[in-house]
Amino acid sequence: MNGRKKLVIGLFGFGTVGRALHSLLETTRPDGVKIKRICVRDINKDRGIDASFTNNPDEIFNDPEINMVVELIDDASASYQIITRALREGKAAVSGNKKMLAVHLPELIDLQKETGATLLYDASACGSIPVIRNLEEYYDNELLISVKGILNGSSNYILTKVFNHGMTYAAALKEAQEAGFAESDPSLDVDGWDSLSKLIIITVHAFGTYIHPDKIFTFGISHMSQGDINFAREKNRRIKLVGHVEKLSDGRLIACVIPQLLSDNKYIYSVDDEFNGVVIKGLYYDKQFMFGRGAGGYPTGSAILSDITASQYDYKYEYKKRLTHPNDLPQFTNDVHFRVYYRYQSPEDLNLINFESISEKYISEGFNYVVGVTSLESLHKVASKLRERDVFVAAYPPD
Ligand code: HSE
Repeated sequence: MNGRKKLVIGLFGFGTVGRALHSLLETTRPDGVKIKRICVRDINKDRGIDASFTNNPDEIFNDPEINMVVELIDDASASYQIITRALREGKAAVSGNKKMLAVHLPELIDLQKETGATLLYDASACGSIPVIRNLEEYYDNELLISVKGILNGSSNYILTKVFNHGMTYAAALKEAQEAGFAESDPSLDVDGWDSLSKLIIITVHAFGTYIHPDKIFTFGISHMSQGDINFAREKNRRIKLVGHVEKLSDGRLIACVIPQLLSDNKYIYSVDDEFNGVVIKGLYYDKQFMFGRGAGGYPTGSAILSDITASQYDYKYEYKKRLTHPNDLPQFTNDVHFRVYYRYQSPEDLNLINFESISEKYISEGFNYVVGVTSLESLHKVASKLRERDVFVAAYPPD
């Protein structure tokens, strides 16, 4: 066994990722790892595999041989119940539920400290790309300045198909759903919420600070129109949905999820389909780029498998940035100014956003836009109104 711990797993969920994990374990047969029982809602469904299914969580929690819980379900509140119960009962846990983690991370960090049980969740941010473990281990010093990138595979798949291949938005979304990339509620993907959850998790590991989802400006791609695409093309840019966290020179943190109009000199300009791309920037080393499959059963299942095998060596997140100086963490602010493209319908829509300056303005029948400088604060104040109206906002960084 080479010092590897024996893991007997109780698996919750047998959807796209659960099934892929089961198959990966069958193929790779890692020493000392086995799934003993799988908890699913519908026990009578024929899943075509020889495994012990149950619909009773107690059959996992009360089995003393099961020392690891792997949770791959959709429902964030059920996921929270499963993970907290596993930790309290001293079982190691692995989760892929970014929505649950983004809301409960501070409490789950405390619970790990209290119980000594570990929780790993590298699959929760950027699928197969080991972002969290790298932030934990390599970027564990003060040189890190920013992490930004494409954190959602489905919206990137849609943008690629619409932008590069002229497909309709609805057809591209349908393909993303059929391929198993999209959430069961795809508005989580296209309206930026899934990217937001991942950004919050990344921020805890990158800078130690936990930011509640309500505080972060989040806007997705579901309002994007043909006019917006034409604007981007005229400016030789592509629209990408970007999650961004950055430590400003005064030590404060900014974070947002917003479509960006990107020029071709940016690494993530060429990240297409369901791939994710993360650019990490730091003092002295400047920029580094991580790229890989961000969604889908097997890529995500691979990250879960990696968390499982890491647990065999007792790997755990140490949350160094958060726990070393808990009273001296970077403070979150929305006080940052930047250039945006804003497409709107009525003068009331235009007045929603407080522009400090406007450098370009276009008005015609049915298609109006401005390019100007505003702040995250101004956008965040009207975020829910922007989501209700037929408007589109995108960051428009200089070349
Ligand atoms: N729906 C998510 C995405 C799955 O498209 O990125 C992976 O987290």
